[in-house]
Formats: sequence, C-alpha cells, structure tokens
Amino acid sequence: MSTPSTPIVCPDVVSLDEILPEEPLLMMGAGPVPIPAAVAKANAIVINHLGATMVKVIGQVKEMARYVFQTRSKWVLGVAGPGSAAMEMAISNLAWPGTRVLSIKNGFFSERMAEMARRTGAHVVTLDVADRSVARLEDVEAALRQERPDIVTIVQGETSNTVWNHQLKEIAALAKAAGALVVVDAVCTLSTMPLEMDAWGIDAVITGGQKGLSSIPGVSLIAFSDAAWERVKGRDHANAHWCLDASLAENFWHNAGYHYTAPVSGVLALHEALRLVCAETLEKRFARHLKCSLALQAGISALGLELYAPEPCRLNSVVGIEVPKGLSPADICGHISRQHQVEISGSFGLPIVRIGQMGEQCREHNLFRTLHAFGRTMVDLGVRVDLPAGVAALERSLAENGRGVAA
Ligand SMILES: Cc1ncc(COP(=O)(O)O)c(C=O)c1O
Repeated sequence: MSTPSTPIVCPDVVSLDEILPEEPLLMMGAGPVPIPAAVAKANAIVINHLGATMVKVIGQVKEMARYVFQTRSKWVLGVAGPGSAAMEMAISNLAWPGTRVLSIKNGFFSERMAEMARRTGAHVVTLDVADRSVARLEDVEAALRQERPDIVTIVQGETSNTVWNHQLKEIAALAKAAGALVVVDAVCTLSTMPLEMDAWGIDAVITGGQKGLSSIPGVSLIAFSDAAWERVKGRDHANAHWCLDASLAENFWHNAGYHYTAPVSGVLALHEALRLVCAETLEKRFARHLKCSLALQAGISALGLELYAPEPCRLNSVVGIEVPKGLSPADICGHISRQHQVEISGSFGLPIVRIGQMGEQCREHNLFRTLHAFGRTMVDLGVRVDLPAGVAALERSLAENGRGVAA
C-alpha cells in the first residue's frame, strides 16, 4: 500500500509492438472500421489549428459534409469527440429545463439520446418500441398529439439491435407537422444509405467518423437546420457543456477563431474520408453498401444461421446474427479474433454478434475473409454450418447484384 510519502515511480511498461498483434486485425465489427491509406496518412500530420491552411481545410470539410448530409444549411460543425459528443451537442444546445422531448426508443443508442435530454432538465417521454421492430406511424402520431414535444429524437439505424427506422422520412414529416424539431442520430448510417436532411425536414443530424465515413474515431460531425440554429442562438442561458456549446464552436467552425485546440490530425483525416465519399458519390456508395450487406446476409443465412432483425426493418449497415445455443457472443468474438485476426462485435447483453457493413468494410475481399473466418469459427466451436454453401451464396449474391457496382 503506497502512502503519500512513497515516491511515485516510473512505471515499467512495454511498447505497443509488444501489445498490438503482429498482423493488424480486420475490423469488421460495429465500428471503428478500417480506414483508407489517404485517411491514415492525413491522420499522421499535425498543422496549426488556426490560420489560412486550417481555414481552407475547414471550409472544404463543411462543404463536403453538406453534400453527405444533403443540406444547404450553413450550420455544419465538427466536434472533438465520439459520436456521443455530437449527440450531446445536438441535445444540450436544443433542450433545457421545460423543453418537451419525445424520444423514439428502439434500443441502446436511442435511449442514450433520451438520457442526455433528461440530463438537461428537459421533460422527456419515450415512445418505447419492441425489440426487432420500428415505431408505427399511428403510434408516433398519437404520441405527438399527446406530448406536443418541442423536439423529437430518433436514430436512423439502431446499431445495438440492428434495426433500421425505415420510416424516418415519414416520422420526420409527422413531427414537423406537429411543430417539433427533429434530431436524428445517423452515427452508423451516414453515407451508407440515403438520408436527406433538407428534403426530409430534419433539424439536427449527428454522426461519428469511425463508421460509414471510414475515418478515425474521435472527430464527429453535426448539422443544424436554420430553425434549430435559431433555437440554439435564442436560448436565454448558456449551455452547461462549455466544450459542446454550439455558439462557442461557431467561432472556430465559422469565424476562423479559437474555441479550443482542434484535433487537427483527426480533422485532416475526416477531410480525406469525406473527399473519398465525394469522389465515389453517394449514389455509388449506397449501391456498394447495399450490394455487400445483402451478399453478407445471404452468406450468413446459407451457413444455416439466423439474422436477428426481420427483413422489413433490418439494418444493412450492421448485420446482427443470432448466437447459436450453447455459445456466448464472447466465445465467437474471441475465437474469430484469435484464430482468424478478424474482429466482430457482441451487443450490450443481446444474444447476437454483429458484423459491420460500413465504409471500407464493404469490400468483396473483406467479405470473403470475414464470412470464411466466421463460418470456420462456428465449425471450430461445434456448430453445424454449411461453410461451402455460405461462401457460394456470398459469391452468387455479389455476382447477381453487382453488375456495375464496384466493391
Ligand atoms: C447509432 C449509434 N449512435 C451513437 C453511437 C455512439 O457513438 P460513439 O461510440 O462514437 O460515441 C453509436 C456507436 O456505436 C451508434 O451506433
């Protein structure tokens, strides 16, 4: 037991070379995902966080982000922090004591938005949706009539249980008609599937860097509509979160001034990730994601395993697979990582494992390696699966759906 007078000695630690695996793991879980070489290269650079070079970089990041969010709104900002920091920026700037919030709750991440809203002192009501399903429009309408919220929160893709809120556009329209601002968590879906901020009437969209965009974790993006920005600027007391105060962040992201020292390397990485999205175009990126995810799903089903979310509301960006009886998610994730150097995810206590289909994960060579490693893992762990049938189904689906779609 050390006492205040015991010297604090220099710790005996090992280098990263001794900690990290010799061959990098293929990151096929629910994020972070593999990053392209241009992103990795940018992430190794440090420049002045203020000045002409950074102003140019920030200008292009905002311009490209507007394309990815599909918005003409000026109010795009970056956030130093995870997707949750962007989430908290949205919630904490728009909600305060007395604000009425309706949170459509599909799972772990939509509940996180509700919890953040509660912490602002807002009055929060959740519309609880059963696992593996989405909110019905009539239930949303009834909740809007009853609660008369100032803000509605919803997640486009609930990564935790792999459910896709495919009626987001209709729900946003209902919320708008009821006079509410709509906050959308697109952390796992942005650039993997259509989301049209302006056309769908969305007032705040948040995303992280480490999923669909295939950038590094730790630098995130947010866009506010004019109406949301008016509410941010109109509040009569400051946001308790100084770092996440959008009015202070405006100084850096719009006025070339200082807020805090920006994570320059991460912003450069994000710039390159966005540039690659723009070079590919959203249309082609969506097609690549769809093709790869459907092929993976076909491969898993042909192995003889069950997908967790029913088809109409199945998220393509992250595929959930039921864990066969007698195994735990940790058994599977541990084995595939150790034996095959492929990393996949469990999910917050649910009996599933998740394979991501975001950004660089959606490449044919990554799919074959992952499906093979997953099938082999099942065989090794004593589950009867048809591995050749799985790989054949993957190949067939890619060939059938793939004409003209690069992956
Ligand atoms: C839908 C969704 N929202 C929010 C988050 C939180 O993002 P982060 O872990 O970067 O804070 C995640 C992360 O997995 C997510 O999938």
